Amino acid sequence: MKLNQNTLASLAAVGMLSLGLQARAEDPSPEIMKEGKATYATCMACHNVDGKGLPVGNLKMAPPLAGSKFALGDPEVMALAVLKGIEKNPADTTYIGIMAPLETALDDKKLAAVLTYVRNSFGNKASVVTEEQAKGYREKFAKIQKSVARTTLDKLLAKKEAAAKEEAKPSE
Ligand code: HEC
Repeated sequence: MKLNQNTLASLAAVGMLSLGLQARAEDPSPEIMKEGKATYATCMACHNVDGKGLPVGNLKMAPPLAGSKFALGDPEVMALAVLKGIEKNPADTTYIGIMAPLETALDDKKLAAVLTYVRNSFGNKASVVTEEQAKGYREKFAKIQKSVARTTLDKLLAKKEAAAKEEAKPSE
């Protein structure tokens, strides 16, 4: 095919169109953000309304969710932390609060909404979490009966990231 000005222009238009559609498909709907914001009331007492962690004197109740690798990474690991809570390391006195298990407080719809909200607020930008995904994570982790160690979460996230990189590699 011989490329002329017109073909180039239409190719560019198609490219821009698909990019535009892609960007929109990844944006959370106003409804899910509204539900997520309402559900975030559950998190605010520790993570604060601005997602930066509620200050208590020189300390904080909880770490910031703004820029958190868990908020921005594979949603499965974030869901695990929220469903089961994070085991408190007594040697770590950085945060006053404890990340409690919230699986009974959040149904699948609320879990999906609050994860999506946190992943797309406070300057964060990450994938939407659907109700089906939330349901899947709950089922996958149903057997875990106690809070998860931070080192376990770190390892799982690293594993997920390595797998995603492998997948993104062009095959020869
Ligand atoms: C009672 C206080 C409290 C509440 C309520 C709470 N968290 Fe947490 N959260 C914590 C603490 C403390 C940590 C750090 C835990 C640790 O490392 O020991 C944490 C850690 C996290 C992390 C990991 C962040 C990182 O980068 O280390 C995520 C994600 C998170 N919380 C999400 C949520 C969400 C979403 C909610 C609401 C649905 C919520 N939390 C409710 C106290 C809380």
